[in-house]
Amino acid sequence: MNKTAIIYSFNTKKTGKVAQKIREAFSDEQVEMVNAEEITEELFTSCNQIIMGVPTWFDGELPNYWDEFVPALEELDLKGKKIALFGLGDQKGYPENFIDALGIMAEILENQGATLVGFTSVEGYEFESSRARRGDQFAGLAIDYENQASMNNDRVNAWVEQLKREFS
Ligand SMILES: Cc1cc2nc3c(=O)[nH]c(=O)nc-3n(C[C@H](O)[C@H](O)[C@H](O)COP(=O)(O)O)c2cc1C
Repeated sequence: MNKTAIIYSFNTKKTGKVAQKIREAFSDEQVEMVNAEEITEELFTSCNQIIMGVPTWFDGELPNYWDEFVPALEELDLKGKKIALFGLGDQKGYPENFIDALGIMAEILENQGATLVGFTSVEGYEFESSRARRGDQFAGLAIDYENQASMNNDRVNAWVEQLKREFS
């Protein structure tokens, strides 16, 4: 049986809403919601599908509350682990730093040996630059509540179907 963990800070509200949508889209799987501030090594060994949600704050930075999470992550050996990232941002308000935090987190996870899955096309977004960009893709799923909320459900559902293939 697949065991899925969705990790995000319980203090980041819109990210929580997207996490809930992802959980619903995985309807037949066992999905655990995990507060990023309380991660354990055991979680990473016990789950074979790990998803992490990261909003961008402060002009291209990780949010508050992540001060404990990031050093804890940097202690983990994530070799061979597949991890998918989703990021929230505002492409009109912050076109030069659109979902930068997803890119920051992608780099941290890759440094710890993780393999990232769930890359998506940059088509359909308008922005100038993003640390999350890899060629014509983002290193995960980009969600923009401020400007494209009506696309959230379709984007999440398509992404979860992609993840079901890429995690296996
Ligand atoms: C002070 C502030 C700074 C922000 N900086 C960025 C940014 O640099 N890049 C970006 O894409 N979005 C930025 N945003 C937009 C947020 O990422 C967006 O509102 C997101 O939905 C917040 O999710 P949350 O409620 O889960 O924290 C910023 C928002 C605020 C309030």
